[in-house]
Amino acid sequence: MAQRIDGKALAARYKAKAAAEAAALREKGVQPRLAVVLAGENPASKTYVAGKARDCAECGILSDVIELPEQTGEQELLARVAALNANRAVHGVLVQLPLPAHISTSRVIHAIAPEKDVDGFTPVNVGRMVLGEECFLPCTPAGCLAMLQSTGVPLAGKDAVVIGRSNIVGKPMALLLTAQDVTVTLCHSHTEHLREKCAAADILIAAVGRAGFVTADMVKPGAIVIDVGINRGTDGRLCGDVDFAAANERASFITPVPGGVGLMTRAMLMHNTVKAARLQSAAL
Ligand code: GUN
Repeated sequence: MAQRIDGKALAARYKAKAAAEAAALREKGVQPRLAVVLAGENPASKTYVAGKARDCAECGILSDVIELPEQTGEQELLARVAALNANRAVHGVLVQLPLPAHISTSRVIHAIAPEKDVDGFTPVNVGRMVLGEECFLPCTPAGCLAMLQSTGVPLAGKDAVVIGRSNIVGKPMALLLTAQDVTVTLCHSHTEHLREKCAAADILIAAVGRAGFVTADMVKPGAIVIDVGINRGTDGRLCGDVDFAAANERASFITPVPGGVGLMTRAMLMHNTVKAARLQSAAL
């Protein structure tokens, strides 16, 4: 049986640190504040945004959730982002993805001020991350890395396979692991011999979005398995991309869903928001 990497306990530690930093900023007259823009009716997005607002309240961070109807125009959304960029009381600006299909995600993301980009999605922050410079790290891969580090297993020299090459998870995850001296194979829907590649990985990160995608034969005995997926199984219950029961028999460490990566994503957002508030108040 694998050891469980407890996302709840680890997230609680990161949130406690963010809360302490938020309290210290308040002492200096700075109230950390996050604005979340939610356009449309995506039920999963609504759940995620509610979770983010809850964590903010827990950490002493003010949050504004700006809900806009599905038919909101791109210009209207861009104007909202511009107003939040200009509002000195707001330190973090997050536009929940996916956006309604008629809106250009890249135009909206590009419009966020890099110093308020607590998701780490703007070209400036992505570029800084690629170069290994100081930046806001994207929350999900940063949370996965913190979970890997929490095992105490030295990462340098290990072989990792990341399944999924999204801008939000897979691509930045590969970069963060590379910076830790891990050798990374970034796999996707066109990858040949995916099963064999996964079965050779010391670290397996699944960010596919399909329940049961990672089966037992894809898990090397003793591997660390990080499950980024959040899916509904055929029984209607939340589950990840990994066949947990099967992988649990082979892995050394494994993350559960729920109670895993999702909570760490939110904890990293709290960390980034407090950091944004600190940097903006220091610049005054
Ligand atoms: N949609 C799914 N994950 C995320 C995230 O981390 N940030 C934003 N803005 N949207 C998302």
